[in-house]
Amino acid sequence: MSESGLIDVFVFMGDQPSDVFRQYTTLTGSAPIPPKFSLAYHQCRWNYVDEADVRSVDDNFDVHDIPADVIWLDIEYTDRKKYFTWDVEKFPHPAEMVANLTAKGRKLVAIIDPHIKREAGYFLHEDATEKGYYVKDKDGKDYEGWCWPGSSSYLDFFNPEASKYYSERYKFENFPGTSNDVHIWNDMNEPSIQHHEQNRGRNLSKRHVHNEYGLWNIRATHQGMLDRSDNKYRPFILTRSAFAGTQRFAAVWTGDNAAEWGHLAASLPMCLSLSLAGISFCGADVGGFFKYPEAELMTRWYQAGAFQPFFRAHSHIETKRREPWLYEPSTTALIRDANRRRYALIDFWYTLFYEHSKDGLPVMRPLFQHYPKEEATFTIDDQYLLGDKLLVRPVTSAGATSVKVYFPGTESNTLWYDVDSYQARVAAGYANIDVTLAKIPVYQRGGSIIPRKERVRRSSLLMADDPYTLVVALDSNNTASGSLYIDDGETYEYKKKKYIYAKISYTTEEMTYSFVNDKATYPTQSWVERIVIAGIKVPPKTAKLHQGDKQTALQMTLHRGNDVLVVRKPAATMAQPWKITFSY
Ligand SMILES: *[C@@H]1O[C@H](CO)[C@@H](O)[C@H](O)[C@H]1NC(C)=O
Ligand SMILES: *[C@@H]1O[C@H](CO)[C@@H](O)[C@H](O)[C@H]1NC(C)=O
Ligand SMILES: *[C@@H]1O[C@H](CO)[C@@H](O)[C@H](O)[C@H]1NC(C)=O
Repeated sequence: MSESGLIDVFVFMGDQPSDVFRQYTTLTGSAPIPPKFSLAYHQCRWNYVDEADVRSVDDNFDVHDIPADVIWLDIEYTDRKKYFTWDVEKFPHPAEMVANLTAKGRKLVAIIDPHIKREAGYFLHEDATEKGYYVKDKDGKDYEGWCWPGSSSYLDFFNPEASKYYSERYKFENFPGTSNDVHIWNDMNEPSIQHHEQNRGRNLSKRHVHNEYGLWNIRATHQGMLDRSDNKYRPFILTRSAFAGTQRFAAVWTGDNAAEWGHLAASLPMCLSLSLAGISFCGADVGGFFKYPEAELMTRWYQAGAFQPFFRAHSHIETKRREPWLYEPSTTALIRDANRRRYALIDFWYTLFYEHSKDGLPVMRPLFQHYPKEEATFTIDDQYLLGDKLLVRPVTSAGATSVKVYFPGTESNTLWYDVDSYQARVAAGYANIDVTLAKIPVYQRGGSIIPRKERVRRSSLLMADDPYTLVVALDSNNTASGSLYIDDGETYEYKKKKYIYAKISYTTEEMTYSFVNDKATYPTQSWVERIVIAGIKVPPKTAKLHQGDKQTALQMTLHRGNDVLVVRKPAATMAQPWKITFSY
């Protein structure tokens, strides 16, 4: 239904689902490469109440050896819900607080909502009133609504001057205590009230714009964050409201869910739907926002969240505290394991997002995208693919001892390798898979290569120079291929060809690491620590590394039923192409 009487219809045609998904992002845009930290783990709560609380949460991640990249501040950090201000009693030293986080490679995200407290003396309210930047009611007066601060008005982002004014609030001098390591959360930006918005002499009714309001809100935030760093750093923004094109500026989470098994299960179809609608950077509040998740639900939610694009725990102010270490040690251990799995795959995620920025295809994909000939896949929304390489089937029900997993690719005899055991199974539709509480059913497609980083650090930034483990999962022809994207993780230098985008290929004769664009380079310190080749039928007798004009004989060991070969310490640098040749 179109309330305003207008509707725009676009019809996308193509042979394959991917053609349609690609056309949609060609029209509305794809997400640019996010700053790398934003693909790691985020810790949020309404609210971390003061600087000591932030410090204690931050420290506890280290005490309990759980990696984390971001601490979030919800609305209570402000001076009585006046955005761009701090509660000076509770947060007297925001810059020092941020510096303490960044010393460990961590960041801060602070919330800024678009409703403005109508309080005399509040600069934002006074400026917006005087300059006419507020949304108007039907009589042309400043619309007054009710939100967190009480009586509030809403900035009219359809007015370019109001947007510009708002963008400028993000300058460091206008928002003291912030820095390039402070990123932004725009919430409550889907007005559900009837009002009018002025736009260049035209009156836009709320019914004309709906969630486009949120889009213009985050555009202005995005511009402000670019301006504050002279276009040097990539902004990270989280938004609740979303519209066609939102993906160009912000990640989206699925809003205020609850600690219920059904809500955990719903996070999968919700994020899959958003992904097909161009919004790949999607996630649900881990643990559930309302209510309290008992240990099993919390464990399963972390395990699911670790394999969804946006990975953030969040909770309501009236719920019991639930940071990972507040559970029994056995639960904390499972949460630690889930987070570490996320970090081990951080460069895989980053590569997927780079590829999304180029081809516009979803990061999180329904099975039918790659297996459209298998009708059974059309209705599957409790499992999904990451890129075309990992098959993920999170456990989303209480007391599960087994789950039904659909293994696609029956026609081509696709192999799926359990990522924990490297045990392969041939695609044959549904199978029952036994699960313990520690198990996350994740499978790597035979024919793929996935980069991992296995050293445990406090944050993703501290892993930047760490060595890679390359996991090669062979298809039935004994071949595999993959890709890897590397850059500085935070700036726009990649636009000046300061990046590496490499293709990695394996055949029985050789394994190669070559640059797709050889004009683009990045001086990474990372090297290959280990290559794991799963599904090997005839192990090679010798392996030799060729890099530059150097050749080095490599050591190999066989594992499991002799079908997993580990090439030990090739020590090839990832800053240059290399090749390993095998002889039999
Ligand atoms: C920053 O860290 C130091 C050292 O742990 C601590 O003494 C100080 O209180 C911290 N500052 C803030 C604002 O958290
Ligand atoms: C827009 O709304 C204002 C206030 O209600 C009214 O005065 C003005 O005539 C309207 N403009 C148009 C173009 O409808
Ligand atoms: C194996 O190779 C054959 C011949 O090139 C090809 O038709 C088939 O699709 C390949 N199988 C896989 C799993 O890639």
